[in-house]
Amino acid sequence: MEVIIKQLPLERFSELNKLFDMTPHPEFAETRRNNLATGQEICLIAELGGKLAGEINIMFKNDNLPEAIIQNRRAYLFALRVHEAAQGLGIGTILISEAIEACNKRGYIEQTIGVEPDNEPALHIYKSAGFKPFITGLKEDEFGKEITFDLLLRTP
Ligand SMILES: CC(C)(COP(=O)(O)OP(=O)(O)OC[C@H]1O[C@@H](n2cnc3c(N)ncnc32)[C@H](O)[C@@H]1OP(=O)(O)O)[C@@H](O)C(=O)NCCC(=O)NCCS
Repeated sequence: MEVIIKQLPLERFSELNKLFDMTPHPEFAETRRNNLATGQEICLIAELGGKLAGEINIMFKNDNLPEAIIQNRRAYLFALRVHEAAQGLGIGTILISEAIEACNKRGYIEQTIGVEPDNEPALHIYKSAGFKPFITGLKEDEFGKEITFDLLLRTP
């Protein structure tokens, strides 16, 4: 089946709940929606057989983690998700590669991405795409739970 990548139009925002249910976190959903509306973020989606199968997001502006973004040079990739039923088919790999291309096209020739160090499939994909360890042991609050993650960096 063919995988199609496209930029998510804002009117399809609620479909992302099929990949990660944002309904218990309305403030988070509102922020994400606003950031897409202003162009501060872009969401690329993968469709398999016409159905939403995955997403990846690109952030061009963020005040929380200054190393992650440099204006007009470095963008932050986040929330790579592939629907469980569609995992292992290469969709995550395609999404990463398309996100890198979308960044490069806009002049954001460096990219960062955060990953929990035990997420082996994700780490494998990121390393294959050229990401290298950058900052380790960062902490973040994820809906009331503290997570530790590493920031990876990809340079041309
Ligand atoms: C991580 C995720 C996006 C991968 O998507 P996917 O479409 O299944 O990935 P792909 O099919 O493109 O590639 C998976 C790769 O990981 C490899 N892999 C799978 N399990 C692995 C493991 N335990 N250790 C190392 N590599 C592994 C596969 O061999 C494949 O690599 P290859 O193409 O070189 O053979 C998907 O599993 C997911 O949505 N997970 C939940 C959300 C998540 O963790 N997102 C990442 C946040 S940082």
